[in-house]
Amino acid sequence: MTSCRVCNSDIQPFMSFGDMPIANGFLMEEDYPEEFFFQMEVAFCKQCCTFQLINQPAPERMFHENYAYFASTSRYMQVHFQAFAEMIVKRILHDRTDPFIVELGSNDGIMLKHYKDAGYRHLGIEPSENVADVARAQGIETLSEFFSFDLAEQLVAQHGQADAVVCANVLCHIPDINSVAAGFATLLKPDGVLTFEDPYLGDVIKKTSYDQIYDEHVFIFSATSVSSIFERHNLELIDVMPQITHGGSMRYMLAPKGSHTVSHSVSKLIETERSQGLHRCETYEQFRRNCEKSRADLVGLLETLRSCGKRIVGYGATSKSTTVLNYCGIGPDHIEFISDTTPIKQGKYTPGVHIPVKSYNEFTANPPDYAVLFAWNHAAEIFEKEQKFLNDGGKWISFVPEVGIIE
Ligand code: TYD
Ligand code: ZN
Repeated sequence: MTSCRVCNSDIQPFMSFGDMPIANGFLMEEDYPEEFFFQMEVAFCKQCCTFQLINQPAPERMFHENYAYFASTSRYMQVHFQAFAEMIVKRILHDRTDPFIVELGSNDGIMLKHYKDAGYRHLGIEPSENVADVARAQGIETLSEFFSFDLAEQLVAQHGQADAVVCANVLCHIPDINSVAAGFATLLKPDGVLTFEDPYLGDVIKKTSYDQIYDEHVFIFSATSVSSIFERHNLELIDVMPQITHGGSMRYMLAPKGSHTVSHSVSKLIETERSQGLHRCETYEQFRRNCEKSRADLVGLLETLRSCGKRIVGYGATSKSTTVLNYCGIGPDHIEFISDTTPIKQGKYTPGVHIPVKSYNEFTANPPDYAVLFAWNHAAEIFEKEQKFLNDGGKWISFVPEVGIIE
């Protein structure tokens, strides 16, 4: 038994993925002996409905000066964050005097640049120095720190309270969610609004997209859990908006209790989650069985194709792929290399199973018979770009929501 990271109730892991490396820990051969692994087990808290990792590596192991994730690698994500910024301007900032907006985990400035360009007072908080530098180079105010209650107090002293706080794919990374929520309550003006989005538990369960579970994602939220977590800090869930990003995300808007009207979509989503069984242990037992089936199907398919002499490569050395590859025990015998457009990943090996990561040119220069779509969340953008691969007889292997071949 351990205790829930949110409410301290006793929780019991319902599934172990075995030993996992750091999902974004792409490495060179000489670093293999020092590679770090942790037991990746997940639990669900019946009390506050929060899905969580039992153990999480120290943040410094995951977010540092060599962090490999740059949000702007996807064209679609750029469009997405522009629309996100436009929504915040329209709903919160546009009629306020000299409003102040803070973004946590502002990465390479993919969203903040829109507020900056519109002349809003802004501040990004991005612990990974190398990614923050990319934002600073574009004139985006960025602080390289981990957000906490203490930092929130410092920010208020320095800049005053914020009209809007935004974050995308960040809160699910932060284990001490209570400190962060207390920090938001301090940082926000009495009529300020917190808006954040993260991969959505409802989608993970529905699609068996277990690859959303990795070291960085200490939580996978639902409206039920978000409402319960922030209620403790006097922040009320006022709206929810489903997003297609990261294979199915949810955007949550919260504000000091009583300061804003609550949209009907909140209670509607919470009801949907109840009928999906997100509050029931049996749902997670079934999820574990679905993961085991997905693993057996994927390994079976790759082995059949390899035994017929087919060449298989991976497309997109995503963080998510680290979970799939290590949980399924898929290595260089199955997958020749993984092609990825992120320069910092190229020439390295994938965490744990050590498949070489190569540039996109290698994929086009030497197209395989089959490509495993590890960046399945970008399927639309990728299929559009890769019509030639299909036309030339290449085939995609997908594993979400089910393992199969796409011709
Ligand atoms: P992403 O799916 O955003 O996520 P995560 O790491 O959170 O699982 O990462 C996409 C990865 O795929 C990133 O390393 C860039 C790569 N990529 C390509 O190589 N080609 C593409 O066309 C796209 C869209 C992404
Ligand atoms: Zn709990």
